[in-house]
Amino acid sequence: MNPLLPDGQALELLFESPDLPRFPLPDALAACYGGALGFSQPRLYANFVASVDGVVALREGTNSGSVISGHSAADRFVMALLRACAGAVLVGAGTFRATPGHLWHAGQVYPAGAALFAELRGRLGLAPEPLLVLISASGNLDPSHPALRHPTLVATTSEGAARLRGILPEQTQVAALADGPISMAAVLSALHERGHRLVLTEGGPTLVGQLIAEGLLDELFLTTAPSLFGRTANDGRKTLVEDVDVSGSALALLSARRHGSFLFLRYALSHALRAT
Ligand SMILES: NC(=O)c1ccc[n+]([C@@H]2O[C@H](COP(=O)([O-])OP(=O)(O)OC[C@H]3O[C@@H](n4cnc5c(N)ncnc54)[C@H](OP(=O)(O)O)[C@@H]3O)[C@@H](O)[C@H]2O)c1
Repeated sequence: MNPLLPDGQALELLFESPDLPRFPLPDALAACYGGALGFSQPRLYANFVASVDGVVALREGTNSGSVISGHSAADRFVMALLRACAGAVLVGAGTFRATPGHLWHAGQVYPAGAALFAELRGRLGLAPEPLLVLISASGNLDPSHPALRHPTLVATTSEGAARLRGILPEQTQVAALADGPISMAAVLSALHERGHRLVLTEGGPTLVGQLIAEGLLDELFLTTAPSLFGRTANDGRKTLVEDVDVSGSALALLSARRHGSFLFLRYALSHALRAT
């Protein structure tokens, strides 16, 4: 029986590529995850939950991940574990607007493991919580969102910065990086310069599409939830990669785990394989 998950069942390891890095996880986290987890550095890794038919986002403004996962405790545990390893979490403004009240902290999404995630961050030499990095061209962000009262960097345009001037809490910094669309490579190098070598992105699909198109995403953690959603024209639903053509980008499976009918898949994008 695993005490961290409500049904007592740890994730079951089905496959793992040999020689993956291993971080010093507290034993209880490794037992629940079904083994070790670690990353080469620097690394940019994404975490998404999708239905079996590939839907990750429902109509605009919906906290889609929770609906698609059916509030799966195992999915929330993995989400928290991935956050616990990250120096910074990169999120698009669409996802931020869809999740009022969210903090992108490990302990918030999986409180039962909060002390263990904090212990892991201490062992990795990370700050207590990751830096939240928001990407927005418009600057259309609710200044009362609680996430902005924790260390946050808003990467935006000159127009977005003008819109946000003087209205954000002091914990939030604003960087005007462009007059048009922001280069994700510029954002990532700014994070590396600040010492954040492990960066997690939780999307959404528009942002992750750009990260893949720019050749920046190294790994994808994909939870396949046992559900089907379907899409119709203009219903606002989105699949994992939106608004760009990534033309059959190749992935290699690094690990596969199972919890009930959920699959937890870890892939490397082909350019990242040599450095895995
Ligand atoms: N299933 C999952 O695991 C999962 C994970 C994450 C998100 N989601 C869902 O995805 C949905 C949101 O998806 P989305 O595709 O609309 O949102 P998104 O990718 O989170 O955000 C898109 C927004 O980010 C900003 N942006 C992206 N690239 C930019 C660039 N290069 N330069 C400047 N700004 C840029 C723009 O913000 P402005 O509009 O402010 O200019 C753009 O509208 C939500 O329903 C959310 O719940 C699901």
